[in-house]
Amino acid sequence: MKNINIAIDGPAGAGKSTIAKMVSAKLGCIYVDTGALYRTIALYITENNIPDEDIEKSLPGADVSLRFVDGAQRVFLGDRDVSDLIRTPEISMAASRTSAIPAVRAYLFETQQSIARSNSVIMDGRDIGTVVLPNADVKIFLTASAEERANRRYKELAEKPDCPTYQEILDDIIKRDYQDMHRETAPLKQAEDAVLVDTTHLDLEQSANEIVRIITEKTGCDV
Ligand code: DC
Repeated sequence: MKNINIAIDGPAGAGKSTIAKMVSAKLGCIYVDTGALYRTIALYITENNIPDEDIEKSLPGADVSLRFVDGAQRVFLGDRDVSDLIRTPEISMAASRTSAIPAVRAYLFETQQSIARSNSVIMDGRDIGTVVLPNADVKIFLTASAEERANRRYKELAEKPDCPTYQEILDDIIKRDYQDMHRETAPLKQAEDAVLVDTTHLDLEQSANEIVRIITEKTGCDV
């Protein structure tokens, strides 16, 4: 059977990764979180204190790769598994900034395309339907209001020490949305042929079911 490529794009905190994981389990295909690649480049630049003017020439030395362990994605910087280290607020903000650099996007482009060429994938990010997989079989644009996304994040973090306030989280989300949508190269936007799914009033199970329904309708695959 031909590989199926499904693109899910949308702003930070819309639930893309959780929902895409649920859908990939139902479909039996690989889930690829491309944000992890941008975060890993941001970690590399931060750890090595690379100034902006040297970023482009430093990229070939970064050695970023994805590996799949029991179906779950892990991201590596050289031989080091950095999958957990890249999940801090500092790296979130750094990734939003460095992902605007065209050389960074060009560097990660082939990594993403080659995974989709040789596997059935659900790939999530910001420019998957518009740039990385323009011929994807199904494109979804997953979103939710900024307030609802901040609310979900706040609930996730509420139990942790040093939890930011709701307002800080909301400000962060609005700032990242702006940066992701207004950069010159591959800004976050809905592809013309993408189906919009707004999860503001849907829970995870309802969101995953809606996406499965769209995939079944578009591909004729029995999920
Ligand atoms: O999805 P995420 O929050 O882990 O992504 C981290 C940053 O990477 C985000 O600010 C936008 C950027 N990104 C991107 O520009 N293109 C992608 N395909 C995925 C993520």
